[in-house]
Amino acid sequence: MCGIVGYVGQRQAAPILLEGLQRLEYRGYDSAGVALAHRGRLKVTKAAVRVAELRDLVGDNHPAPIGIAHTRWATHGEPTDANAHPHTDSEGRVAVVHNGIIENAEALRAKLTANGVEFASDTDTEALAHLIAARLRDGAETLEDAVRGALRVVEGAYGIVVLDLRSPGELVVARNGSPIVLGIGDGEMFVASDVAALVRHTQRVVYLDDGELATLKAGDYRTSTLQARRTDKTPTEVELTDADYQLDGHPDYMRKEIAEQPEAMRRALMGRLDERFSTARLGGLRLEPRDLRSIRRVKFIGCGSAYYAGQIGANLVEELARIPADAEPASEFRYRNPVVDPDTLYVAVSQSGETADTLAAVQELARKGGRVIGAVNAVGSAIARECGSGVFLHAGPEVSVASTKAVTNMSTCFAMLALLLGRVRDLSVADGRRIVAGLVALPSRIEEVIAQDEHIADAARRFSAARHMFFVGRVRGWPVAREGAQKLKEISYVHAEAYQAGELKHGPIALIDGDMPSVVIVPDDELLAKNIGTIEQIKARGGPVIAVTNADLPAGLADIELRVPRTEPELDPILFGIPLQLLAYHLATVLGRDIDKPRNLAKSVTVE
Ligand code: F6R
Repeated sequence: MCGIVGYVGQRQAAPILLEGLQRLEYRGYDSAGVALAHRGRLKVTKAAVRVAELRDLVGDNHPAPIGIAHTRWATHGEPTDANAHPHTDSEGRVAVVHNGIIENAEALRAKLTANGVEFASDTDTEALAHLIAARLRDGAETLEDAVRGALRVVEGAYGIVVLDLRSPGELVVARNGSPIVLGIGDGEMFVASDVAALVRHTQRVVYLDDGELATLKAGDYRTSTLQARRTDKTPTEVELTDADYQLDGHPDYMRKEIAEQPEAMRRALMGRLDERFSTARLGGLRLEPRDLRSIRRVKFIGCGSAYYAGQIGANLVEELARIPADAEPASEFRYRNPVVDPDTLYVAVSQSGETADTLAAVQELARKGGRVIGAVNAVGSAIARECGSGVFLHAGPEVSVASTKAVTNMSTCFAMLALLLGRVRDLSVADGRRIVAGLVALPSRIEEVIAQDEHIADAARRFSAARHMFFVGRVRGWPVAREGAQKLKEISYVHAEAYQAGELKHGPIALIDGDMPSVVIVPDDELLAKNIGTIEQIKARGGPVIAVTNADLPAGLADIELRVPRTEPELDPILFGIPLQLLAYHLATVLGRDIDKPRNLAKSVTVE
């Protein structure tokens, strides 16, 4: 949420910053801006525009070898030119870009205003620029000291980069709750809120921890705590390169990431299935069979689609391991003073590894002695580091705001977790073997779904006039329906409501008419007859039905069938999600939506 980039070195900063912003635009696209310092002058260009337009405003020719840049997802203050970052102090000496929320911004603003400071924006960030400038005026010896002093009075979450005209050749960065990663170049330093902006230039990175600051100079950096204690960080090598972020001929990232799913799933499965003992090997959990057997309950915690994937995980754990399991939104869990049970395995689920609510839930669990593992895609992210053990999703970088391949890999990893937990308990060798074979075959089954793209696009065209849709599923199909509705809502802005099939008749069926299509999840399992009954109830009230199914339904029962290949019934939810991604994608395309940058959203929600 919000993208930050900074550069200090020998090269022209502007093109590097603008290209970095382009990479991070998926983190927020309400406004964008750049501050460049050269020969004692600060040039700030910012507006409520996308990065491509900002590029036209800035131009690529500015000679400054140092600068900071930002792409915004609005929190405090509307998305206007004035509220765009960077923000400066009144003198135009200090420029700040910020990701996060400063909670005592109002109090700081009141105090500064009382001291004669005039604010130029409605943002919480601007107070920081004034605070830092005041400390510099009051004699702080270095920019780092001034930033440290200012941050002592700030409450809330931040990832910041600060540039001061009179501290030439250096940037100061700090992190508390919002990601900051340093990129180490040859005689140059980079900083960003996400490695995506760095990998074109370097693979050597340093992740800042909460409460840490760093001063960057061309070819040099120093990290310390807010209390001015040196921290010696060891750089790590990221495996990602610029090639991982190319569109490779796809029209957008969502399309690319849907297409990548067979490969992404193969990566998630690689080396983790044990065909000899019909189980899974998840070494990253750091749990011995004895520990696995001591688990009495499993709870999945995540937000949005990660929460729905957790629901699929909970079903898998109950089915395969017969351990009670459930899923809860992290945004609820963190605030309700949960009872933390030592015999429960908590699973924090997150693509980005930065979602503020999920991170806070993990921290709360750690405080209360809970056993928490991560199911995270982004290696090196805050949640992955906080959990210390878990299972990486190996989906590769996900750029599209609407999550697809990461969500599919979440459920796949949960199937392996459930298999592992089951095989140290009562799950038979035969059932274990069945699930292992089902998982091995799953990537090819996804290819079969993707091959039906044109048919799914037809279905989307046929229902493109609908303003509302139901997504209906039962038991295994329920989280699938929820995720299908979520995908449709976020990228097409069509109102989609997910309902448990059996609950439909308890009220919402009143909404069914010819203008309210229902997408019904109909796996060929023990509940097939019940789901056929649900379709009949909808049809009897004139509601059009799109059935997503691997069953042989009575001819003409559904208006459209989206066919899913057969897999093991427990794995159906993983596969049934794919046609729903494509349905949402095509519907949003027909409606002319901005697929990768849906309105009001941003990838990686690092604020509460
Ligand atoms: C939906 C979507 C969001 C995320 C949610 C959690 O397509 O992407 O609902 O799933 O914001 O994000 P992560 O997984 O990064 O914690």
